[in-house]
Amino acid sequence: MNFKEIVNPRLFDIPDYDQIHVTKCWQDPTIRRQMSNESNYAPIAAVQEAIKSVADKANYYAEDPSYALTLRQKLADYAHVKPENVALGNGSIELLDLLFQILMANPGVDEAVLVQPDYSAYVPRLKYFGWKINFAELSAGLDKAADQVMATISDHTKFVLLSRPNNPMGIVMPKEEIKRMLGTGKIIVVDEAYVEMADEGTSVSEWVNEYENLVVMRTFSKGFCLAGIRLGYLLANPELVRYLNRSRHIFNVNIAAMAAGIAAMDHLDECRQVFRKLADTRDWLSAELAKIPGFKPVPSQANFVMVNVEDSGKTATQCVDLLLEKGFFVRSFAKKAGLEPDTHFRISVGLKKDMEELVAYLSEFVKNK
Ligand SMILES: Cc1ncc(COP(=O)(O)O)c(C=O)c1O
Repeated sequence: MNFKEIVNPRLFDIPDYDQIHVTKCWQDPTIRRQMSNESNYAPIAAVQEAIKSVADKANYYAEDPSYALTLRQKLADYAHVKPENVALGNGSIELLDLLFQILMANPGVDEAVLVQPDYSAYVPRLKYFGWKINFAELSAGLDKAADQVMATISDHTKFVLLSRPNNPMGIVMPKEEIKRMLGTGKIIVVDEAYVEMADEGTSVSEWVNEYENLVVMRTFSKGFCLAGIRLGYLLANPELVRYLNRSRHIFNVNIAAMAAGIAAMDHLDECRQVFRKLADTRDWLSAELAKIPGFKPVPSQANFVMVNVEDSGKTATQCVDLLLEKGFFVRSFAKKAGLEPDTHFRISVGLKKDMEELVAYLSEFVKNK
């Protein structure tokens, strides 16, 4: 059979997933996982207990996410919106997929605006659903972000999507710029995957009460230390939430994820201590990296630090390879995300003792030119 003749031709432009590093980490648990912005802390004890407590109920379907009022109410309270603003998904990436599907009316014509650099998973999914993508550069600085985005919007633009804090840089676009973008009337999707590690007051979630064109994405994968449980949520106008719920398959959020989400919301003080620990270690890591000659860490509000090693006499690839040799997987951004030369790599913040070890290896490496 010639499968090329029958599959969706948009798949020809999309590469296979490149996630072998995750498998390597599962195969060798001594590798320190600093590459995917997971947390190296286990979920808090109450969340682990909640996951275990549903093991003997796994014979039943969980509540369908359109109902699931206990979890949606708790998330609404946490994000300062109403339960009808909340949609639940199998990770926030599933909700992004659903959004890309329900907003698509004219494949090959409808346009999405992304900023550059941003989360690498957006592009292949948008391409798959037939979106034309226009990129707005952030090189003029974050204070000019809305100008750059507005200059990129056309009549065919349906939405603008950006992560805030930005992945991979960790920077936060000023709130005022988001407000200006909302003024365009286009849908503005703000992905707050890392907001738990950002300064208090960073989130724009409560603007959902005011702006019907704002969509906020959230996840339990980062600050809540639950990447493997696959739980995300989206905050938006209730009508959009209803359309989104029509487009998903039933029971898309499993019983363990629901239990974990509820327990996390019931133990927010403890979760907040973890956010603080991650943010403090990030700031410590950033300060220590800045002491290494020629290293320039980008000031981050997320659970990772991007480093520019341009002036250190080493390439990003050399640093990444050195760390791999020492048992740390970090992420190279050589020639990626619009960062053309071999100058940047990103470290997901881990345990303090591991970060101390990592900094010591890098300092020594740069000293020995
Ligand atoms: C900006 C951003 N959004 C979403 C995700 C994925 O989140 P989830 O695990 O909820 O699908 C990531 C993961 O790295 C991310 O960086």
